[in-house]
Amino acid sequence: MSTMVLMINLTSSSVAFAAPTTFNVVDLGAKGDGRTDSTRAFLRAWESGCASPSSTTIYVPQGRYLLNEVLFTGECKGRVTFKIDGTLVAPSDYRILGTSGKWITFNKVQGVSIYGGILDGQGAGLWACKATERSCPFGAGSLEFTYSSEITITGLTSMNSQIFHIVIHDCKNVKLQQVQVTASGNSPNTDGIHVQGSTDVTITQANIKTGDDCISIGPGTTNLWMENINCGPGHGISLGKAANEQGVQNVTVKTATFSGSQNGVRIKTWARPSTGYVKGSSGSQVAMKFDCSPKTPCSGIVLNNVDLTYGSKSASSSCINADGSAFGLVHPSSCLAA
Ligand SMILES: *[C@@H]1O[C@H](CO)[C@@H](O)[C@H](O)[C@H]1NC(C)=O
Repeated sequence: MSTMVLMINLTSSSVAFAAPTTFNVVDLGAKGDGRTDSTRAFLRAWESGCASPSSTTIYVPQGRYLLNEVLFTGECKGRVTFKIDGTLVAPSDYRILGTSGKWITFNKVQGVSIYGGILDGQGAGLWACKATERSCPFGAGSLEFTYSSEITITGLTSMNSQIFHIVIHDCKNVKLQQVQVTASGNSPNTDGIHVQGSTDVTITQANIKTGDDCISIGPGTTNLWMENINCGPGHGISLGKAANEQGVQNVTVKTATFSGSQNGVRIKTWARPSTGYVKGSSGSQVAMKFDCSPKTPCSGIVLNNVDLTYGSKSASSSCINADGSAFGLVHPSSCLAA
């Protein structure tokens, strides 16, 4: 009996010293059966973790957890880490998320980390709709961080997103490591990772197979580092299509492999007739393109160990209003202005 009293004392003293706390979503009502809606259990775990002043972990054991649209909002008192051994599954009826445009969103959070896990966006139904019908919902991206900072995503797999897989929008200091993206090469709008309006983002050891851009870069992005990227199928690394106010600065691509991708690195910051912008451009040509406007030129682009291959086809490069430097192996050779 005296031993038991001693144990209780130890427990309460460790709480007093604010030991890291773990919230298991299953303890809060989630079911890994692939059918039961676990959204509320995940939100309960988030509310508890976010309110805790010490670092907390939200643990998702093995299993398939059905999640509807879910918004994790800050600001939180301490750091929150998701440790995911299971799979988060979107509703099989694509219309449920497809009209709202969002699935899993983190807004105004600081110091959130995600380790492991699989996101299954179940997007095939929407892709089929878009291929055959006239009116389909636009679709939902799988994971989005907005207005957030100090974010780490490690070893996450995103498969079959309806549209964009991972979006980093208006964030600062974000690390994506060992992220895997898979979707059919025919899936429309399924960009792997989209970065926009964000500063100090690094993407390392990413394996991306998808139907649209492997990585797309939107306006207002600065200090973006991409290293050890495997892309293909997919459309390469691209900068968005619209004419934009904000430029893009200091983008580094180091050690990237593009195989079976439509483009290699393609940066295009303003809309011009496609006939004008790359001679001989066709859907299957592999190219490194930097096409930037005189008003918002692309600057500080660094190319290091970039190798574009597409069977036996030769790759080309073209640069307009783009400067930067190249070193190490860069194939095709760089046309960036110094
Ligand atoms: C460019 O970005 C890298 C990180 O990607 C950073 O280390 C470096 O300081 C930045 N350079 C400038 C001039 O801001």
